[in-house]
Amino acid sequence: MRKFATFEERLSVWTADAMKEVFGLSDSDVNLGVAPTNNDKFGDYQCNAAMVLSKQLKKAPRQIAQEFADAAVLPDFVEKIEIAGPGFINFFLSNKALANHIQSLENDPSQGTEQVGTGKKVIIDYSSPNVAKSMHIGHIRSTVIGNAIDRLYRFLGYEVIADNHLGDWGTQFGLMLVGYREFVNEEALASSPVEELERIYVASYNKSKEDDTWRDFAKAELVKLQQGDAENRALWEKFIELSIGEFDTIYGRLGVKFDLYRGESFYNDRLPKIIQALEAKDLAKESEGALIVDLEEEGMPICIVRKSDGGYNYATTDLATVESRIEEFNPDRIIYVTDERQQLHFKQFFTIAGKLGMEANLVHVWFGLMRLPEATFSTREGNVIKLASMLDEAESRALEMVKSSSPEMPEEQQKDLARAIGIGAIKYTDLSQNPKSLVTFTWEKALNMQGNSGPYLQYAYARISSVYDKWKVKFPGMELSDCSIRIEHEIERKLAIKLSRFPAAVSAAAENYSPNIMADYLYDLAQIYSSFYQNVPFLKADEGVRESRIRLCRSTARTLKQGLELLGIETRERI
Ligand code: ARG
Repeated sequence: MRKFATFEERLSVWTADAMKEVFGLSDSDVNLGVAPTNNDKFGDYQCNAAMVLSKQLKKAPRQIAQEFADAAVLPDFVEKIEIAGPGFINFFLSNKALANHIQSLENDPSQGTEQVGTGKKVIIDYSSPNVAKSMHIGHIRSTVIGNAIDRLYRFLGYEVIADNHLGDWGTQFGLMLVGYREFVNEEALASSPVEELERIYVASYNKSKEDDTWRDFAKAELVKLQQGDAENRALWEKFIELSIGEFDTIYGRLGVKFDLYRGESFYNDRLPKIIQALEAKDLAKESEGALIVDLEEEGMPICIVRKSDGGYNYATTDLATVESRIEEFNPDRIIYVTDERQQLHFKQFFTIAGKLGMEANLVHVWFGLMRLPEATFSTREGNVIKLASMLDEAESRALEMVKSSSPEMPEEQQKDLARAIGIGAIKYTDLSQNPKSLVTFTWEKALNMQGNSGPYLQYAYARISSVYDKWKVKFPGMELSDCSIRIEHEIERKLAIKLSRFPAAVSAAAENYSPNIMADYLYDLAQIYSSFYQNVPFLKADEGVRESRIRLCRSTARTLKQGLELLGIETRERI
């Protein structure tokens, strides 16, 4: 058993062994699950082994459970077992074991979480905005959700390659090239590059609709770019550089880092080979001048892999990308994070990748769009919400809150705090709901200090941290390590149980690509802590009990901080 094994792991192993012994089963027969209960009436963990084994042992589940309870010698961390309902075996952990466990976790950097990812590699393709266009709300969610998944996987020991698959190639660059030469406003380009590039594109596009010569001109310039013309290439590179520069400012504000910025263009040279491979396997056929893959058998519409004008498609690039990623990194899994509108695209190219024999475990994590009620933003240009203005607004609203709650705080610190709270509020709103559900964003909810929000948890963290500081001041010369954790009160027990389940929340959030599982865990933890704080004395408790409670406090603070960090949300000791 690993050093910081959870109770769930320990119980599973013990139950399987004990079942084998009591009923004389062979190794291969036993595969029994032990799960946490959500009602402490049924103990802390529950096992349904008796039901599972009923057929094989030809006995009623309740009888199996009873025989088991009578014969098994309990391990020292279990206080008692009870039989419930049709034959559930309920485990009640001993307070002593619980206290020891929480205390031992103080020395584990991963807080009991098993490093299941050691030696495994995942590529996470997220954010991936398009060059020369403002990020839309879909990219914001992809950035925030993708980054949380990135952090969760790293925490589990995986080697993660965060890859920003920029949309940096396509027919729009013909219009961009000619438009830039005609319409650019250098000043605007210097101050807000992406906005200016977008304006240029729109102007050029509009002109192409009225002016055939312009359209042909754009096409010719695109062909030149594709053929490697030096001047066009340099200009295209400039568009990319300017866009990345602006995206990076946003990533910096969000605390998001990528290992790779590999745009679609990186895979260009591989596209003809993908077509050849499809043709060689008889997977593609001509249709009205285009080359398509028929996916009727799979119940999907056809997928165009080469257009009638010879250009390649989004799916073709994605296939080439998978091939390249396998060659270079040999990942155990590739995770793509985009909005729901791309589900068909991913299903299609995953299927084709399979047919091409590409050995990769491909996962599409999709999320619903976030709804932004009309009045959400004071600055709203066109119908694209500029992420930067959303972040600005979050920070300025948070600054108002900080100024009124901590007027005496130095201004620099107020601003720093407002940044952490504002950004945290946006991220938490995004992460605290099931990704697949539709989220309606409102400032009231995002910044609600009383409800399930980022700021609520950040404040909770700061309050919990300050308990320790107060203790330090009041009892100088004492060390917490001089007194061990004791669990006597019911609420202490509840808190300890919750703390011991942090690893389960991490794995469930990662395995299900659902950061909301971590958010729920943290919110529950903060609430349990708050009733702990309200129900028992801390600094006024007797010596020993007092230190034990402060230690529980410290574990709670540390878990909250770690959990928020996994969501990409910063904490401050003082609020
Ligand atoms: N650039 C795409 C968009 O803005 C997202 C790319 C997602 N990743 C991928 N490998 N297809 O919609």
